[in-house]
Amino acid sequence: MPAEDPLLSVREVTVHFGGVTALSRVDLEVNRGTITGLIGPNGAGKTTLFNVITGLVTPRSGRVRFDGTDITGWPRHRRGRAGIARTFQRLELFGGLTVHDNLLAAWEASVPGAVLGMRRGEGRRVVDEVIEKLGLGELAGRVAGQLSTGQGRLVELGRALAARPRILLLDEPSSGLDQAETEHFRDLLLGAVGRESGEPAVLLVEHDVALVMEICDRITVLDFGQRIAEGLPAEVRSDPRVVAAYLGDSDAA
Ligand SMILES: Nc1ncnc2c1ncn2[C@@H]1O[C@H](COP(=O)(O)OP(=O)(O)OP(=O)(O)O)[C@@H](O)[C@H]1O
Ligand SMILES: [Mg+2]
Repeated sequence: MPAEDPLLSVREVTVHFGGVTALSRVDLEVNRGTITGLIGPNGAGKTTLFNVITGLVTPRSGRVRFDGTDITGWPRHRRGRAGIARTFQRLELFGGLTVHDNLLAAWEASVPGAVLGMRRGEGRRVVDEVIEKLGLGELAGRVAGQLSTGQGRLVELGRALAARPRILLLDEPSSGLDQAETEHFRDLLLGAVGRESGEPAVLLVEHDVALVMEICDRITVLDFGQRIAEGLPAEVRSDPRVVAAYLGDSDAA
């Protein structure tokens, strides 16, 4: 696979919110079969970039390409059906639905005709597979609103996987998890990325620097809406601009 053929490519994306420049000519690539980390201080623009990629925010300028196709003007649902799935920084589950039905709803949203009840058997199979893969069997019948944060994070991952994504965007998935839960989450994530097939690839926003350094193939660093570094974990970790802007003394890796 040529290196110049990333699954996702963001070029010179700029986003303004009123007087705030949330992103300024930002570039980002995610290669097939890999985990790309997206890190930076609070307010750097990480979630905004996710919103641009998923179609929640329209950039003032710049392009987003997915598998070679320019999707910059596509509506959200079309991106979802093309295989772009995400989780949210603040858990956004259907609190009144069971875990199983949360996953089924995510699958339905990703498949044309599914909301009309067509292909329901297929949906159940996909959902059961994801539940098995994430070890959620005992929680499948529980109402999502009653879960702990750690359980909720797993269900969010499950919802994203139930859409059978080609790329998985995770916004601070280990936030609120304790050490053991984070390690469990890491293992599930490593099991979810399509190393062999190339899909899904993963784009990971995460403040747990040790986790990011351990599992990411490449890392992009944002600061005040600008990309200040891109490279291998070891390169990024020792980059003086990154140390000054973000890692400082707290570099756990
Ligand atoms: N909908 C919005 N309206 C106005 N300003 C916004 C909006 N969303 C984000 N911003 C601003 O854009 C900048 C980038 O915010 P963003 O949420 O993308 O940062 P982040 O890197 O995800 O931060 P964190 O690590 O805290 O989640 C911030 O200055 C933020 O206040
Ligand atoms: Mg954020």
